[in-house]
Amino acid sequence: MTGWRQDVPVLGSVELPPDPHALDALGRNHSLETALADLVDNSVDAGASNVLIRFIQHHARLIGLYVVDDGRGMTPGSIDTALTLGGRRDYRATDLGRFGVGLKAASFSQAASLTVLSRATGNDAVGRRWLHGENRDGFHCDIVPGDFAAAELDRPWPFSTSPSGTVIRWDRVSGFPASDDPQQVGVFLSRTMDHLRGHLGLMFHRILAQGKLRLTVDVEDVDRGVGIPADVEPINPFGYRNAPDGWPKTLTAAVDGSLLTIQCHIWPRRSNAVEYRLPGGAEQRQGLYFYRRDRLLHAGGWEGIHAPDKKLQLARAAIDIDGDVAGLFTMNPEKSRVTAGAGFALAVGAARAEDGTTIADYLRAAEATWGVSNQRSTAQRRPVTPPGRGINPRVCREIVDELPQLNSEPLNIIWAKFDNDDLFQIDRDDMTLLLNRRYRAALLGGRRGGLNDAPLVKALMFLLMENVFQGVHLGARDKDNIDLWQEILTTAAKAELSSFGALP
Ligand SMILES: Nc1ncnc2c1ncn2[C@@H]1O[C@H](COP(=O)(O)OP(=O)(O)OP(=O)(O)O)[C@@H](O)[C@H]1O
Ligand SMILES: [Mg+2]
Repeated sequence: MTGWRQDVPVLGSVELPPDPHALDALGRNHSLETALADLVDNSVDAGASNVLIRFIQHHARLIGLYVVDDGRGMTPGSIDTALTLGGRRDYRATDLGRFGVGLKAASFSQAASLTVLSRATGNDAVGRRWLHGENRDGFHCDIVPGDFAAAELDRPWPFSTSPSGTVIRWDRVSGFPASDDPQQVGVFLSRTMDHLRGHLGLMFHRILAQGKLRLTVDVEDVDRGVGIPADVEPINPFGYRNAPDGWPKTLTAAVDGSLLTIQCHIWPRRSNAVEYRLPGGAEQRQGLYFYRRDRLLHAGGWEGIHAPDKKLQLARAAIDIDGDVAGLFTMNPEKSRVTAGAGFALAVGAARAEDGTTIADYLRAAEATWGVSNQRSTAQRRPVTPPGRGINPRVCREIVDELPQLNSEPLNIIWAKFDNDDLFQIDRDDMTLLLNRRYRAALLGGRRGGLNDAPLVKALMFLLMENVFQGVHLGARDKDNIDLWQEILTTAAKAELSSFGALP
């Protein structure tokens, strides 16, 4: 006998309410992006069609942030539960909310003051403010007068918060620069807004693509007014064209009576598209994508199935989970990570597609696709003249990404006034392909022109003609080609002109 006892004896109990400083520990895993995603979750749960994230600027300094939605709002009876830590409501099967802490944890991780102003249909506007940080001596929350709540809700937002909507306001945001240098703040804002749109576009891509939600980001300068809003566009990490033959495949495994389903995708090749590059870079984003109720929680990583590998960067697999599954995975309260349990790698190892494909087959196929696509791509392609002025920047990026570049001056494609009907002129000394302006309106089909207009025509001309800008002399074959192109393309341009109905 070692004296060990199975039962622990007790004498009674003492009540130990949490010390208010416990709040300081909340949301420590949040960044500005994940915190705002948590507030967007709440707006989605409230059935909002519009959500606006607005940065507030005064004399160049960033002083606050709003998240506004036109969802169903909170009533005078429900707002206190909403602000209670761990205060839960009855969740529906599709709700993103789960722990009753999101709003508070997200807000206090970023701001010293959280104000919630809300109105539900048929109810008066209500407001609460919660100051966080030093001198906190309890869990009390300030009551904001109804007329102020109504005034905040009725500010000229780009959509109406009537009959219902919610305004979440953060003041004293810790991550904002303590600077009123317009340039420094400008750089911070543009970088932050880019990150934010990248993160939210990815995490909410399914919900945004369903078209039920419009999510925008803008900046209000309290002296000068509101800047141009930027929509958050969906970024689908599986948004490739032309999958490799036979892919994607669905692998399933039964685990304790529930079904684990893994949609195994292979990108056909490396790409310059935002959907492939993703925030953080494609190589970091290989692996598993966990979704819960169409909200992406976790983008990339193999969770112990395999080590990250440059050659596996075309492999991305989607797993839809409905909350935690004992032993398989748990979601962190910030909803920014899913952690796989010990049974997960085993379950994945046992998963099979209908044709018997295993996860190991999938990884091998992804690696093989990477090998083939690399051989085929840039290394073996003929180098081209770099694209220059006049060509749409997205087209330039695609050309630079797909083709090796000669070390020469770039090729510009520019409209010019000609004294004949020819469609183009080749000016090798200036590295410029001139296009005859008399066809411009017809080729633009009446749209407004600009330096980078007519991207399709210019991209075709670039691909066809860039090689005549290479080398010291034009060969006989080049000259013959140029004459041939001139004949055919000028006839085509005249046909465009006559069907457009414009007079030369
Ligand atoms: N924008 C909103 N519109 C309407 N109600 C909201 C909004 N934001 C929060 N609420 C209410 O406040 C409650 C608490 O929100 P909070 O994010 O703290 O927890 P939750 O969403 O219930 O769960 P989780 O911790 O998983 O996010 C919500 O359940 C909801 O009733
Ligand atoms: Mg929430």
